[in-house]
Amino acid sequence: MNLKQIVQSEADNLFSNYKKYPLFIEKGRKCVLYDYEGKRYIDFLSGIAVNALGYNHPKISNIIRKQLKKSLHVSNLFYHPYQALLAKKLLEISGMERAFFCNSGTESIDASFKLARGYFYKNNLGKDKNQILTLNNSFHGRTYGALSATANDTYRKPFAPLVPGFHFVEQNNVDDLKKKFNKKICALIIEPLQGEGGVYPCTEEFLQAARQLCDENGALLIFDEIQCGLGRTGRYFYFQKYGIRPDILTLAKPLGLGMPLGSVLTSKKISATFGPGDHGTTFGGGPLACRLGFEFIKILQEDKMVEDIKTKGNFFKQKLLDLKKKYSCIVDVRGEGLMLAAELNFPGRDIVDQCLAAGFVINVTANTVIRFLPPYIISKKEISQLIKTLDKLLAQSSKNH
Ligand SMILES: Cc1ncc(COP(=O)(O)O)c(C=O)c1O
Repeated sequence: MNLKQIVQSEADNLFSNYKKYPLFIEKGRKCVLYDYEGKRYIDFLSGIAVNALGYNHPKISNIIRKQLKKSLHVSNLFYHPYQALLAKKLLEISGMERAFFCNSGTESIDASFKLARGYFYKNNLGKDKNQILTLNNSFHGRTYGALSATANDTYRKPFAPLVPGFHFVEQNNVDDLKKKFNKKICALIIEPLQGEGGVYPCTEEFLQAARQLCDENGALLIFDEIQCGLGRTGRYFYFQKYGIRPDILTLAKPLGLGMPLGSVLTSKKISATFGPGDHGTTFGGGPLACRLGFEFIKILQEDKMVEDIKTKGNFFKQKLLDLKKKYSCIVDVRGEGLMLAAELNFPGRDIVDQCLAAGFVINVTANTVIRFLPPYIISKKEISQLIKTLDKLLAQSSKNH
């Protein structure tokens, strides 16, 4: 099938809930994607922050071949070695005490809400302590729990009524946070570096206030590091930047390196909320996904990748800032490590299309924010190539905007 035929076949057979780019991917190698006509694209999106080690990583391909000969799925009624091995690694790098595995980001968010509400209910810590605070510009996922914590009306409105008990706070507004807090709040959920909303970091002051208000009101602090965690910002977790620790941490995206895998990390005490039957999943924590997760963290550690991300991220960000000096259509440059964004004063979709034509996959979020989430193994040379292309495209666009 060619691109035209596949587009038609999808239109005839699938839901039309994705706005796709006209790109028919056959394969990838390192940071390069190839379409069915052999055209190369340097990937600055990584399957939306999933393919952290790029494509066809030799160690990862080898692990997949080995595990295929053993088992793909065993169910959570039995044991296999990789849940515990991966859990140990995640606890080691996060300082948490217990892990739960599921299949996606949104599932980990829903699990974290159940955990928070269940914790107070089961420990008789307050009958009405079940309200959840969340931030205005956040994105936490599409299932009903996660959607109820996601502010954007375009995602929410058609599907009302949502789960009750969610209240919105303005990001980085400590006064608003104080105003919304009370003893009925059981949890506050925060993306410490917001992704889909437009790559907006939470300030240290706001995160500190969040920690303090949770402690004073006996509420749990949940950090959603599904997009910004697991090395992406040049540290294992974004919360480590300020040393402000959550009670519950949600992870997904790169964790299974392309196999669906999400996780909730917390303390031993909070984890005890879920007894047998309280929560679970058929597929979550399967041997292939967990083995890949284990290998991923091992490679991050052994290859000292996190430090490398910081160095390359600083290089990349400086180049974006240089472009900002040159072009007034870039109104802001945000993010850290390899989670970066340039906000434009016009919708970014055209720049994304033009980058694609020039052989680069980038992305736009929040309409005007072009976002870069390359694989962790991206090279400075590849970054420079993209910058050169952006320079040319922005010179052109500046004339029109
Ligand atoms: C911060 C954050 N939380 C949750 C999600 C939902 O994850 P998933 O798409 O795996 O359900 C996303 C997805 O983009 C995300 O960026």
